[in-house]
Amino acid sequence: LKGDAAAGEKVFNKCKACHAVGEGAKNRVGPELNELFGRQPGSLEDFKYSKAMVEFGEDKVWDEEHLTTYLAAPRKVVKGTKMAFAGLKKEEDIDNVIAYLATFDSE
Ligand code: HEM
Repeated sequence: LKGDAAAGEKVFNKCKACHAVGEGAKNRVGPELNELFGRQPGSLEDFKYSKAMVEFGEDKVWDEEHLTTYLAAPRKVVKGTKMAFAGLKKEEDIDNVIAYLATFDSE
């Protein structure tokens, strides 16, 4: 990953209103984001996703590429998503927040 996880922790402040990550993270307005890489979009059993997110996830798993396009323009990439977030404008912020989220993977 090209991003910087420490810088990404600050970017994640924009996500914290809705998402938790790390030990003991629970679903909030949005799903918890532990073990995100390799997870199918819309697949946590105990979170109620939009139909759009479940359909988006049918043929893919979250990886660097899909996260990059999604976080730049969530509502364009997953039309009908209930994630009420405009997206991150700076490519650097996207790379960094992805690197931060990757630190919560088991591998
Ligand atoms: C879904 C990341 C900001 C609310 C997701 C997913 C990711 C993500 C990766 C898909 C998770 C999965 O498939 O299980 C982020 C990041 C953010 C951010 C990195 C900051 C840059 C926000 C904000 C809100 C929010 C600010 C609330 C205003 C949601 C909701 C979903 C979601 C409700 C479920 C979407 C659906 O079912 O259509 N987010 N998010 N997120 N997020 Fe965010």
